[in-house]
Amino acid sequence: MAARHLLAIDQGTTSTRAILFALDGTPAFEARRELRQIYPAEGWVEHDGEEIWQAVLDVVREVLALAGIGARDVAAIGITNQRETTLVWERRSGRLLHHAIVWQDRRTADHCDRLRAAGAADLVAARTGLVVDPYFSGTKLAWVLAHVPEARHLAARGDLAFGTVDSFLLWRLTGGRVHATDATNAARTLLFDIHRQCWDADLLALLDIPAGLLPAVHDSAGDFGATEADLFGAPIPIRGIAGDQQAAGVGQACLAPGSVKATYGTGCFVLVNTGDAAIASRHRLLSTVALRHRGRASYALEGSIFVAGAAVQWLRDGLGLFKGAAETEALARAARPGSGVHVVPAFTGLGAPHWDPEARGAILGLTRDTGIAEIVRATLEAIAFQTRDLIEAIAADLAAEGRPPLESLRVDGGMVVNDWAMQFLADTLGLPVERPKVTETTALGAAFLAGLGAGIYDTTAAIADAWRLERRFEPQMGADERAARWDGWQKAVARVLSR
Ligand code: G3P
Repeated sequence: MAARHLLAIDQGTTSTRAILFALDGTPAFEARRELRQIYPAEGWVEHDGEEIWQAVLDVVREVLALAGIGARDVAAIGITNQRETTLVWERRSGRLLHHAIVWQDRRTADHCDRLRAAGAADLVAARTGLVVDPYFSGTKLAWVLAHVPEARHLAARGDLAFGTVDSFLLWRLTGGRVHATDATNAARTLLFDIHRQCWDADLLALLDIPAGLLPAVHDSAGDFGATEADLFGAPIPIRGIAGDQQAAGVGQACLAPGSVKATYGTGCFVLVNTGDAAIASRHRLLSTVALRHRGRASYALEGSIFVAGAAVQWLRDGLGLFKGAAETEALARAARPGSGVHVVPAFTGLGAPHWDPEARGAILGLTRDTGIAEIVRATLEAIAFQTRDLIEAIAADLAAEGRPPLESLRVDGGMVVNDWAMQFLADTLGLPVERPKVTETTALGAAFLAGLGAGIYDTTAAIADAWRLERRFEPQMGADERAARWDGWQKAVARVLSR
């Protein structure tokens, strides 16, 4: 009997999941493990790579058992992952030299300051589409080489390997036979020329990184080898890899120029497809690889908000204002409208377009009758206002290129089940907001890439055909109110900026 399933491994910042899909993209079974966050020093964030590996084995085995199927029933695996997070291991033994340094980790801020002071920003932007920031892998890898005593020695012997999470998992799943990544992940390292689609010798020299550490870079859908037979009972072909935000773009069928999606997790990442042109942002957005398929790269402009769902989590766990996130919808509806309260959740500074790492959060406009409902509502509003910050920057970049305006925004991630928040988002943006039937778009994108790589789907058009709308939120707010609320937000942000 032909294999009837596609398996997505979604290794994210806070959890590791395996999701089994039917070949038509219907999610069937899921297994999940939380991931321990390690904070060794102020601004440092690490994960234990061995814990990640064990979690991947566990969730894959569990999801096969839940479905009552074997490895031979899985046509292909697609891997999607938290991006930029950096791992280094010894090739001969597979031993990790250090904990994974997570994308949120700021330990290389000084190194980045020095690089900027030395005038590296233009070279980095021109080749990689990125800004010089500790967010990306390059300076994290340089940190490991400088701080782990044996690293340089192993590198000189050709016995050291670097990878983002996808690449590390691929190495382990294939029993050390395949050291590779895909172009979407490579694009986040600060070492990859997104135009020529290759590792960049100048950037490697700038960061003093030996080329021998780096994985081969493949298309996002293709042959990445197969899992070791003894891991799951039989080899399973690995046919897709993409960074989680790019995979969400695929799952949302944002494959045509001008299509745009926002994924609401801990933070929020907005990506607009710009087709085969990498647009250099004039508004401090990132330019990145959306997908590489059959040797051709397509590109995206990307903006990120560092705190989105994490703000709701803070209201729940930090302030204890409610028990479950589902309560926020009723609270927001019960709040006094136009209360003038603003929550600016700049807990770790502000991302695009402000890029102000020193900004800190604030609750403004409190009066004697402000209650829990008003604060909850203002927090949900802040997430919509920050999305508008990104959408305005994207719209301005597109207009400067003579591109047509955006028509709608596709949304996914945990928060989008909140109808009130989605309506407010549509009102704030003045754009229709589209919520798909399957909101597990990251995993769906990975599964789809695996299907594409395995030849189950012929073209990327298949995902566009399979995408289904669940609900479209049309903007309803009058222009005056929309402008007044936006003005209120801008004034609130101005009060928390550090400069
Ligand atoms: O760039 C970081 C992003 O890929 C992390 O996504 O969903 O794991 O928080 P997530």
